[in-house]
Amino acid sequence: MNRNLQHLFTIAQKPVRRIIGLMSGTSLDGLDVALCAISGSGMETQVTLEHFDTVPYPVAVKDEIRKVFAKDTISFQQLCLLNPWLANLHAQWILECLQKWNVTPEEVDLIASHGQTVYHSPKILHRLPDFPNATLQIVDGDHIAVKTGIITLSDFRQKHIAAGGEGAPLALYGDYCLFSQRGVDRIMLNMGGIANFTFLPGNLDPSGVFVTDTGPGNTLLDAFARELFQVEYDKDALFAKQGAVNEVLLKALKNDPFFKEPFPRTTGPELFSKAYVKTAQERSDTTGLSPYDIMATLTHFSADTIADALKSVLQEDKDYAVYISGGGAHNPLLTGLITERLPRLQLHTTDELGIAGDAKEAVLFAILANEAVCGEGINFGKPGMPAITMGKLSFPA
Ligand SMILES: Nc1ncnc2c1ncn2[C@@H]1O[C@H](COP(=O)(O)OP(=O)(O)OP(=O)(O)O)[C@@H](O)[C@H]1O
Ligand SMILES: [Mg+2]
Repeated sequence: MNRNLQHLFTIAQKPVRRIIGLMSGTSLDGLDVALCAISGSGMETQVTLEHFDTVPYPVAVKDEIRKVFAKDTISFQQLCLLNPWLANLHAQWILECLQKWNVTPEEVDLIASHGQTVYHSPKILHRLPDFPNATLQIVDGDHIAVKTGIITLSDFRQKHIAAGGEGAPLALYGDYCLFSQRGVDRIMLNMGGIANFTFLPGNLDPSGVFVTDTGPGNTLLDAFARELFQVEYDKDALFAKQGAVNEVLLKALKNDPFFKEPFPRTTGPELFSKAYVKTAQERSDTTGLSPYDIMATLTHFSADTIADALKSVLQEDKDYAVYISGGGAHNPLLTGLITERLPRLQLHTTDELGIAGDAKEAVLFAILANEAVCGEGINFGKPGMPAITMGKLSFPA
């Protein structure tokens, strides 16, 4: 047997696997690196988060990614160069994290690399009847595997599309394995660049699990914080809190076919862009708003569309525990508005379930890698969506 396969075979049989989960989302804030100790698989999965760090993307790196990110027309050379360049950077940052944590690469079994999304294009966004759902993540796994010496799984989303999905959100697989609890209906709400939630029924019936993107999380807040205030994000909603919501613009923002599509649906900054907001401003004759009012209105836009999507799965007479994660969980205006709109929700953070909210998405990819190596694939009983495991294998040699 090939020695790499032999090694993988051994890893699959270990009682506990140490897996690094990587996530770098649409916010381009940095690379989340989560070292997890994982035992079992499927509903028996147990995770201990041993170490976690976010390596902030240097401004120069963000600038290089933004040359292609969510853009219709790009330099092909730039895309081609970014693929190994960013992979080498990710590999270097992984090695630096390991050194800091006093862990050697030999002590790590697998890396689960999400890669950097550069374009997300489900049918509901491109609307070209002859083309399928599509999404593109760069950061090739071979480069990470060779540079770190660790077997790497990457490019998780293509299998989901091949099997009938939109390639996102993938959170349901890990959410279901890790956070489902018999007798309790739970909602896992992640507010990254885009916001999404997973509904986990207390009867543990996989066909009752529901996941969808809701629309913008932080993506518009970040774009306008950069444009209007020359900062990377509206820390603690300091700008938005100084403004007032403009109801006319808010209504125009909500008036998009995306919000009328049936659930589940996915989206990205390809739709929720500065151009989206500027068009809504022109349509509603609200181009003269103060920067603070724009930030306030955009925060309401995220909160309202998150709350509206949640309402669509909640029963009115029930109380729900919602576990929030992602950078938006640190935005007090955003979380406050969601609570105001859904008073029967109790907002908790995933920290209370043992996984820090900032680390959750990276941990979920470590779980996907664990499933690929020793799970059986979960069938969520959705029409046209078979049981799958995800991730492509890259061997170090
Ligand atoms: N203290 C804070 N106040 C307001 N916003 C914050 C705060 N901390 C983080 N954020 C927001 O969170 C964003 C980063 O969130 P996160 O890393 O979860 O998103 P992401 O990288 O896009 O991942 P995903 O793929 O899950 O969307 C930042 O860009 C910022 O907008
Ligand atoms: Mg991030």
